Amino acid sequence: MIRICTSIWPCFIGIIALTTGALIGSETKPSKSPKKSIEQKTKIHRLDTQERAPYDAFTYLNRIPAKADEGEDILDFTARVYSRLANQEGRILIKLPQGMTREAYLGYKIFLSTDAKVSNGNCVTCHAPDKFTDFKLHKLNGDSPPRPTPSLRNLAERKIDIAEALQVKLAAIKSPNAPKAYRNIHLNKMDLTHLESFLKQLNDVDDKAFRELILNAKILNTLLD
Ligand code: HEC
Repeated sequence: MIRICTSIWPCFIGIIALTTGALIGSETKPSKSPKKSIEQKTKIHRLDTQERAPYDAFTYLNRIPAKADEGEDILDFTARVYSRLANQEGRILIKLPQGMTREAYLGYKIFLSTDAKVSNGNCVTCHAPDKFTDFKLHKLNGDSPPRPTPSLRNLAERKIDIAEALQVKLAAIKSPNAPKAYRNIHLNKMDLTHLESFLKQLNDVDDKAFRELILNAKILNTLLD
């Protein structure tokens, strides 16, 4: 339906309603199938993830790929994400869901970083999105048997103290027998605080809260960096 606006306000409101409608969908639309789709439940369109953490709201808002493609190397995946972030940062278009701080965003970048001299988390090598695990075993020091990489989602539910877990990790990467992926990690105290903020974005919320995270997103002022 195309209408020519004769006065400015109804037209303006019409445009807002159209754009909001496109993002959120119609509230009154009846559900055809008895089992509701994700889009119907959250009223957010083009949402192809089942995950419900603030991090997932963040990847949705910024159209960041959720995981590596079939057969794609994790380094190619991180390169793809970094180029998307750089593009959005340059245009001041990074959107942070409600509650996701600048510190958490910086932590996310450290988490993804694989070859920097400083602030290099290299975490993504083993804790690969979207489950934040590579589903593999890793020999973390000389004598002990290989350990499976745990998922980093929902650490709160599992009552994991993140700060403490990071201290354990720091000690492990200093071991002379640490694997190469550990020896590539370079973190200072500030980086650890940022990583901790990021890992807190991986706890699921319910559908209603998830929708709010998206609707109340804010633009990150990347000019401050
Ligand atoms: C070599 C692969 C590897 C890399 C790289 C790696 N991790 Fe891990 N991570 C593991 C494994 C394996 C464990 C389980 C350790 C154990 O069972 O003792 C673990 C455990 C953890 C835990 C505890 C989770 C739990 O459920 O107890 C946290 C938190 C964590 N890693 C965060 C990180 C962060 C942050 C980084 C980047 C700075 C990182 N990891 C880099 C393999 C890795």
